[in-house]
Amino acid sequence: MADRNRIVVLIDMDCFYVQCEQRLESDKWLKPCVVAQYNNWQGGGIIAVNYEARAYGIKRGMMGDQAKKLCPELHIFRVPDENGKAKLDKYRDASAEVFQVISDFIEEQEKSMDLNNLVILERASVDEAFLDLTKLIDAKPLMLPELEDLTNFNTKLEFNNQSLNDWFDQFEHHNIDNRQQQDNIRLIMASMFVGQLRQQIFEQTEFKCSAGISHNKMLSKLACGLNKPNAQTILPMIAVSSLFKRIDIGDVRLLGGKLGNQIKTIFNIQTMYQLSQVNRFTLNEKFDNKTAEWLNDLANGLDNEPVSDRRLTKSIGCGKNFRGKMALCKQSDVNQWINSLLKELYERMMKDKEMNQRLARLMIVGYYTAGKGHCHRSIPIDITLGDYPPAERIASDIMRQLFSKPLIIIQDPIQNLSLAATKFLDTTKAIMDSTAKIEKFFQKIDRITFIGQQQQQQPKSSKNHSTINQPPIQSKSPIKKSIQMVGKKSPMKNKSNNNNKSSTTVQSNTLDRYLQQYQRQSTSKTNNDDKIDLNDPHVRQINREMNQLLDSFFFSKILCMLENGTLKI
Ligand code: CTP
Ligand code: CA
Ligand code: CA
Repeated sequence: MADRNRIVVLIDMDCFYVQCEQRLESDKWLKPCVVAQYNNWQGGGIIAVNYEARAYGIKRGMMGDQAKKLCPELHIFRVPDENGKAKLDKYRDASAEVFQVISDFIEEQEKSMDLNNLVILERASVDEAFLDLTKLIDAKPLMLPELEDLTNFNTKLEFNNQSLNDWFDQFEHHNIDNRQQQDNIRLIMASMFVGQLRQQIFEQTEFKCSAGISHNKMLSKLACGLNKPNAQTILPMIAVSSLFKRIDIGDVRLLGGKLGNQIKTIFNIQTMYQLSQVNRFTLNEKFDNKTAEWLNDLANGLDNEPVSDRRLTKSIGCGKNFRGKMALCKQSDVNQWINSLLKELYERMMKDKEMNQRLARLMIVGYYTAGKGHCHRSIPIDITLGDYPPAERIASDIMRQLFSKPLIIIQDPIQNLSLAATKFLDTTKAIMDSTAKIEKFFQKIDRITFIGQQQQQQPKSSKNHSTINQPPIQSKSPIKKSIQMVGKKSPMKNKSNNNNKSSTTVQSNTLDRYLQQYQRQSTSKTNNDDKIDLNDPHVRQINREMNQLLDSFFFSKILCMLENGTLKI
């Protein structure tokens, strides 16, 4: 879809962490306030500044003591600390509240129009959301709202200093059959929706926010920042080239980091307008074709990145800096911090699982050292039957990934550690995957029996192989049979809870006994004729998996699932 046909909005909470704190101490509203992390060093590092405090020149990144000098009456809220780590739950919970209001409002609006899936909502950060309102607006008749309603929502226009009032006049006095005017009216209609949504957010959470209303993500994000706080800004396509004359390349979404700096240095330019003057061939000389095309589009106000339907975060993460002397130089310290970070993360993962019915499949461990810079490792999370493994197991998997051998002293100390659980999977899908895994496992068990039979018929000539006893040879896996039996004969459904409990125990015991016997047999050396070649990689693999399954109480879970019908073998 051509860019100006889309209507894309960014909602961003104003000085979010400060508002979260002010809501809890309402006498602090309208007073200069900041949120600072770490109490004991120069008044703590400031991570959020409200607009009253910004008026004194206080900025994020300053130390609390320094800010107090600029504004003696400044109130400093402290981020709570747990085990030496900032506890940010309060802000995350407040964020979930805001997103709930946004979701409910969208649902309500769609319901009133008797239509579904008109709005795409993408959670962009803890306090930001993109909305694609194209379908919603196009489902309504093209109509100008009352100017007064819009000004009540503190709506601003970004277009050569033109007032919203003057802009409105031209629509009222001219016919609106030209496409550009129609697009502008669509933006105005979207502003009504956004104003009402912001009002809902305020009424239900007490939080104020700002919004940008334009045609793509880059422009709406830019527009949102133009009149903060508590305002919404319309940015029509026609206003882009003049606006870009005063927009620093680094202030544009995705150009804030290395890439933006690189562009400024290479072409010796500063603004987006200057970037639009760099011709395509010159861009191509310095960047690959795709990047050059993308930069050229951005410089002309075009950005075709879609708003994706994502109401949840892509990952759940936490981290900790260890500056100067605090840097971790012993493996045992790293172990302790991995456990501590994971404790926090695991609680959040469990909460997220309950609330959003999803499970993370991958843990990304990041660390920073002076010698290696930023590094990360990915560790799969072994989710079985819709649940996470115990935190201790994840922690030991992480440690194994980080250190291949025990290290007392780490030569290149770790200055930052972070963990992020990601690659989420629907719990139902996770259960289905696990079921498939179990079935595959049983197929292997069947094969192991088959291998045993073959070996019985054609005993190996070599006597040097270590051998193990195999379970009684049957045409079908005995474990699979007993599970089927348990499943079929399960008397659970019609019994009371107490009875359920005792029956489960009886069945678990039967199965456990079998499994223990199997494990004993598979690990003891005997001279029995029924032998399996222990060195056979296939057998070793099965043994490994078997032990893993036993380890994780896999079978007691299978039993539960057979009983409640989620698992069918
Ligand atoms: N935040 C942070 N560290 C950063 C960036 C942001 O802890 N490097 C937190 C801030 O405390 C902030 C929240 O994330 O309150 C949202 O960040 P952002 O939207 O960038 O700033 P706000 O404080 O909300 O201020 P603004 O009104 O400018 O959006
Ligand atoms: Ca914000
Ligand atoms: Ca933000």
